[in-house]
Formats: sequence, C-alpha cells, structure tokens
Amino acid sequence: MLEVDQDRARSETAEPQRAFEISLRINDVEYRLVADARTTLLDALRDRLHMTGTKKGCGLGQCGACTVLVDGRRIVSCLTLAVMSEGKAITTIEGLSQDGHLHPVQQAFIDHDGFQCGYCTPGQIMSAIGMIAEGRTRSADEIRENMSGNICRCGAYTNIVDAIQDAISRGIDPPEAMTEAVQAIRADAGPGGER
Ligand code: FES
Ligand code: FES
Repeated sequence: MLEVDQDRARSETAEPQRAFEISLRINDVEYRLVADARTTLLDALRDRLHMTGTKKGCGLGQCGACTVLVDGRRIVSCLTLAVMSEGKAITTIEGLSQDGHLHPVQQAFIDHDGFQCGYCTPGQIMSAIGMIAEGRTRSADEIRENMSGNICRCGAYTNIVDAIQDAISRGIDPPEAMTEAVQAIRADAGPGGER
C-alpha cells in the first residue's frame, strides 16, 4: 500500500506564494506591510495590523461583520484583497471618534441599546455611516432594506433602526470628499436621497 506524506504532498502541490509590499492608508495613517497577494483586507487589518475592531463573522461575504469604508463606500473586507485597497482611503471603526468624542452613530447605538453581544456592532455602525452618505435612509423600511447585509444574531434590529434614525435627526456632517462611487449611489437613490 502506497503511503503518502500528506504534508509533503500538500507543500509540493501548493501554489508558490507571492508576497507584495503593500501600502494601506487607514484612518488617515499610512501603513506598510509585506503580505501574500491573497491576503484579504480583513486579515491584513486584524492579523497584521492588529486593528481588531473590524470583526470576522462568516468570512464569506454573508454577515457584514467585517464592513469597512473604502473611499467612503461600504464594503465587506473579507471579500476584498488588501492589494486592491492600495491608494484608497480606508476607514475602520477605530477611526470614527474625534477628539475623544464618539461619532454620532456610535453614540446613538449606545443611547438606544443597539446591540447585545456587540460582535456585529462595528460592521453595523460602518454600514450605517455608509448608508447615510448614500442617502438611502428616508424611512425605517428603507433603512432596514439597506442594512439587510448586516446580520445581528442577537436580534437587536429594532433598536439599530431607532439608533440610525436618531443619529440622522441629530445631524451628521456629510463626508468631506464624497467619491464618485458614493455620489452615483446617492443619485441612484432618487429624489429625497440628497441631504
Ligand atoms: S465576515 Fe465578511 S461578510 Fe461575514
Ligand atoms: S449584538 Fe450580538 S450579533 Fe448583533
């Protein structure tokens, strides 16, 4: 019977890794790292740069726990390669508070108990900020629809919608530099999508 050294077989058949020097601009700070071309933005953030605020849920683009903003647009970082984010402005939950003050959406989540275990919360907050910039928040139904990519296993959905509506009513400054991608989404949102 032919015995196969599984580890050796795996190492001989595995594709050679290709490491790249990557430069990432995260929360207005430039970071450099050497990483395999297949490294996801999520793994670069959490495992290489130790920014663990962004959470890993499914790793398959289905739960939204890993949502961050890239050039103001919300994306799931588990399905985005780090190399694809070079030259872009990446915003994570760590970059929201200013001068010791929470972002209005963060504060509203606290005020409305918009979480229980909190695992989905960074992704919910980043997605909410992206959605508000997109102008897709004209009703509770529209908010629910446009937050549907963010799963909360604790079922805090009602309070999450309340928190988002409260944050909007308090007033949120639009992004200083709204990218073409976000402008296009706002235009697509139709009348009333503009704020
Ligand atoms: S971890 Fe990225 S969508 Fe679930
Ligand atoms: S607060 Fe627990 S998963 Fe959303």
